[in-house]
Amino acid sequence: MTGASDGATSGAASAPPVTFRIASIPGDGVGPEVVAAGRRVLDAAARPWGFALEWQELTVGGAAIDAYGVPIREDDLETCRAADGVYLGAVGGPRWDDPDAAVRPEQALFALRGGLELFANLRPVTVEPALLDASTLRPEVLRGVDVLIVRELTGGIYFGRPSEERRTPEGRVAVDTLWYTEHEIRRVVRLAFELARGRRRRLTSVDKANVLASSRLWRKVVEEVAPEFPDVHVEHRLVDSAAMMLIREPGSFDVLVTENLFGDILSDEAAMLTGSLGMLPSASVGARRTAHGLHGLYEPIHGSAPDIAGQDRANPIAAILSGAMMLRWSLGRADAAGAIEAAVRSALQDGLRTTDLARVGAGDRDVRVLGTRAFTDEVVARLSRSEPTGNATAAGVAAPADDRSTLHAPTATGGDGDDLDADTATMVATNTLLGLP
Ligand code: IPM
Ligand code: MG
Repeated sequence: MTGASDGATSGAASAPPVTFRIASIPGDGVGPEVVAAGRRVLDAAARPWGFALEWQELTVGGAAIDAYGVPIREDDLETCRAADGVYLGAVGGPRWDDPDAAVRPEQALFALRGGLELFANLRPVTVEPALLDASTLRPEVLRGVDVLIVRELTGGIYFGRPSEERRTPEGRVAVDTLWYTEHEIRRVVRLAFELARGRRRRLTSVDKANVLASSRLWRKVVEEVAPEFPDVHVEHRLVDSAAMMLIREPGSFDVLVTENLFGDILSDEAAMLTGSLGMLPSASVGARRTAHGLHGLYEPIHGSAPDIAGQDRANPIAAILSGAMMLRWSLGRADAAGAIEAAVRSALQDGLRTTDLARVGAGDRDVRVLGTRAFTDEVVARLSRSEPTGNATAAGVAAPADDRSTLHAPTATGGDGDDLDADTATMVATNTLLGLP
């Protein structure tokens, strides 16, 4: 014990700790395994950091199609709306892949994203130094990579109607609609500018303005918003060129903002910089505030990975880090979030890996490959050693207050040495921007 006084824990002794109500959606495939891992880590953080978690588990996705015939029930959507945060694993799988099916698990995601108006999906891509060898790219290209992808999430071709297959005298045709209103573009672009302001002040807006009308409107709106942020340097890049630059010079990006489908594609590509799709967390947020922060949905960007489901092989890191993002963005607990991120980093620094991370470069390092549960045990053990009242230094884990984790998203790299947590600063700025208290 360090004997350092600790407000959170001593406060917890006298007054009941704040209880956060979290809707938990394990979903399909590896979803239940990674959500269980993330919940264990969050539960382990709760008491020492002076809060309590009340989980409301919901059956959503393919599991809900099997149980109720619909991907998500209206009541469950309401539960998510009323919760302080929504924590999701993954939905979908080959069982529900019939292209002619009227109900699909993914519709649950769109109901959540659209129904809760979570228009901005934040996907932080940072390269953990211990994993430089795990990527298929050369380490010198990856060093220092810190990109925040801001993907528009409730518009574009994912939501445009019509979207259907038709039978015509000429045979079958299919149509999808790429539709954006200027309002939809402006709100996500503004948020991206705000986020860039809390980071390295560089914004790359990605579009296909040489082909698409929606992209030309996107570009105009970015130009209209830019004067509000004279301190942020903005550039436009066509999506094909952006895909190339993400591999050639990923370190040149700070914040990247783009429409729904481009963001989906580029974020999977960017995940490869980190070594595995299993590393990337995400936060989906909108304008609505709860008592503790922005209302949001937190999920790993990887899918349900049915090929490894139920084998204790899934990488829980994306889910665990999504939990940390929830603490930071929706629950106002950046301290606990930083501690979780530090615990994950410490496990990686100690050579612990899941299968996906060990594949490349495994031979030349002192690594130990663990299953989902055992890796999570290691994270929990490190987290406990870094408790506010615990002996952080001896455990070799940075105390939360000092943590500048490379694993969490917006890092303050402006170099002004200011101690305010970058995400918190951003959130405050974002709230102002969105007219929130
Ligand atoms: C993602 C996923 C989803 C998407 C799928 C599962 C519908 O790929 O969150 O990136 O395309 O948005
Ligand atoms: Mg995707």
